[in-house]
Amino acid sequence: MSGHIPLAGVIGAPVAHSKSPALHGYWLKRYGIAGHYVHLHVEQADLEEVLRAMPKMGFVGANVTIPHKEHVLAIADIVTDRAALIGAANTLIFRADGKLHADNTDGYGFVENLRMNADWDPKAGPAVVLGAGGASRAVIASLLEVGVPEIRLSNRTRTRADALREEFGAKINVVEWVNAGDMMQGAATVVNTTSLGMEGQPELKVPLNLLSSDAVVTDIVYTPLHTAFLKEAARKGCQTVDGLGMLLYQAAPGFERWFGQRPEVDEDTRNFILAS
Ligand code: ATR
Repeated sequence: MSGHIPLAGVIGAPVAHSKSPALHGYWLKRYGIAGHYVHLHVEQADLEEVLRAMPKMGFVGANVTIPHKEHVLAIADIVTDRAALIGAANTLIFRADGKLHADNTDGYGFVENLRMNADWDPKAGPAVVLGAGGASRAVIASLLEVGVPEIRLSNRTRTRADALREEFGAKINVVEWVNAGDMMQGAATVVNTTSLGMEGQPELKVPLNLLSSDAVVTDIVYTPLHTAFLKEAARKGCQTVDGLGMLLYQAAPGFERWFGQRPEVDEDTRNFILAS
């Protein structure tokens, strides 16, 4: 595509709410890169046709969001081990040889957010994961990759948590949702991967009385930035990390692959996205 302005975008349905165009647009401007990143509303029935046509229009890559993250794996020519393990992709690269490459950077974004914003040792003790949906899969895969000794998993619908245990193995112990507070004892890391606490949703109300102040607590929710759950953990003296960083860090590898520049995730980036 040399000589052409590189294009990228986020593919979803609905997609208008996505912050990705603002984020990539910010980085393109910041680094003086001639490129564009757009919202692409695509229905499932059209997904494969659209993906095959995109490179012909100058697209170098794309992010994928709800509801296409799983389905795109069946269309891609090359699926990274990480994306296969998680069962979903969020980052696509249209390679020069015509092959569609699918990767998942959500787990990277999750871990990088904790590494950069807390004094965090994943090996210091068990990790508590609340929720067993799509986001939980990426979080669990990445926690296992960085060597947590144990994952304590709880979900309102227990069968979903049991299924993740079957899939990801013996380091996962499943606890009933009503007893989720019991998992906090001795935990080094606590993660909310449910949608509870998000604007318009009920609060996450898992008791934190057994939680040590040594634990690092994070939430994948970032609207609001400081969820009631994180505020409660902060009152207990824990380090808390909001979910915005996960969004920013998961975007960085794609930007680098498509536009040839590793973007910085810093206070200016955060503030721009918060204001957009
Ligand atoms: P995502 O891909 O964002 O993880 P998801 O797959 O729909 O979305 O998962 C949403 C998560 O939030 C699930 O763990 C879900 O629990 P269930 O599997 O029981 O549905 C959890 N969740 C959503 N609303 C909830 C509620 N009111 N109480 C408890 N958990 C809830």
